[in-house]
Amino acid sequence: MASSAAGVVVIVGSGLIGRSWGMLFASGGFKVKLYDIEQQQITNALENIREEMKLLEQSGSLKGSLSAEEQLSLISGCSSIQEAVEGAMHIQECVPENLELKKKIFAQLDRAVDDTVVLSSSTSCLLPSQLFSGLVHVKQCIVAHPVNPPYYVPLVELVPHPETSPATVDRTHTLMRTIGQSPVRVLKEVDGFALNRLQYAVISEAWRLVEEGIVSPADLDLVMSDGLGMRYAFIGPLETMHLNAEGMLSYCDRYREGMKRVLKTFGPVPEFSGATVEKVNQAMCVKVPGDPQHLAARRKWRDECLMSLARLKSQMQSQ
Ligand code: NAI
Repeated sequence: MASSAAGVVVIVGSGLIGRSWGMLFASGGFKVKLYDIEQQQITNALENIREEMKLLEQSGSLKGSLSAEEQLSLISGCSSIQEAVEGAMHIQECVPENLELKKKIFAQLDRAVDDTVVLSSSTSCLLPSQLFSGLVHVKQCIVAHPVNPPYYVPLVELVPHPETSPATVDRTHTLMRTIGQSPVRVLKEVDGFALNRLQYAVISEAWRLVEEGIVSPADLDLVMSDGLGMRYAFIGPLETMHLNAEGMLSYCDRYREGMKRVLKTFGPVPEFSGATVEKVNQAMCVKVPGDPQHLAARRKWRDECLMSLARLKSQMQSQ
């Protein structure tokens, strides 16, 4: 029998990200209540999760120690938010990225909860001070930003509101570890958090290199997938520096001036429009035609790659 002694988690919004969170929490033995404003979304989510879990079990990639049936028995739909939050220890909001909608949901949750539950948002780019300021339970509020697809990419950015209590951050950190995710603490809120700031820095220079005709779009992507990305799956940019010389101090001594020289040549923020979009789009469509079928097939392949990489990473860690 599956145990739900671990506690109850509520997912508000049963779309792409809500479903993934539901699967992750069930894999950790938590009882999951899926809420959505659209009943059909809940029905679709439950069906979709069943199919996904069965496939994952068949391929030996199901997370957690419970069988697919046991995990599925922990997940239920709920069409009343009031009923859903009753007795919950953690509420994960996953509604569309719209500030007014999210503020409305958090005001509603604020009225419905006691002092014990954590109120968490999956937002990709809204700041905690925009979402949670003025709430009675602001100490219990936090952003827990996952990376798509969360089942295969474990990073979660935890971003507190200035008034979030340290206990809320610690509890959420522990909870994320319990379900096999990899939480990082963003200590102060900043636009883009950490992940998107890094991602946009890379995209921006990639764009400039293509725009200036220095490298083709296809070759640019290879620089990452067959170059930098190979090690970034295992070590970050700072550890890369540490290992690429006799330690960090030696790296900075050796490469400080060169890095600064190159960085000073970086251009302004690109417009991401006009002829360069046409050029990049054309090159991308040669590799993956932009129709829904081809895009879906390539995403499936990407997720299979990520799943294999996750297996390799866990093998490497246990060595
Ligand atoms: P989605 O559009 O797939 O799902 C949103 C769900 O919220 C839908 O099922 C919709 O019916 C439901 N909903 C709308 N209004 C509601 C309400 N008032 N009460 C309850 N449910 C309501 O969106 P997705 O992609 O799952 O995104 C959810 C959040 O996760 C967004 O904040 C997004 O920025 C964030 N996120 C998304 C990522 C992605 O790659 N899709 C990655 C990381 C975070």
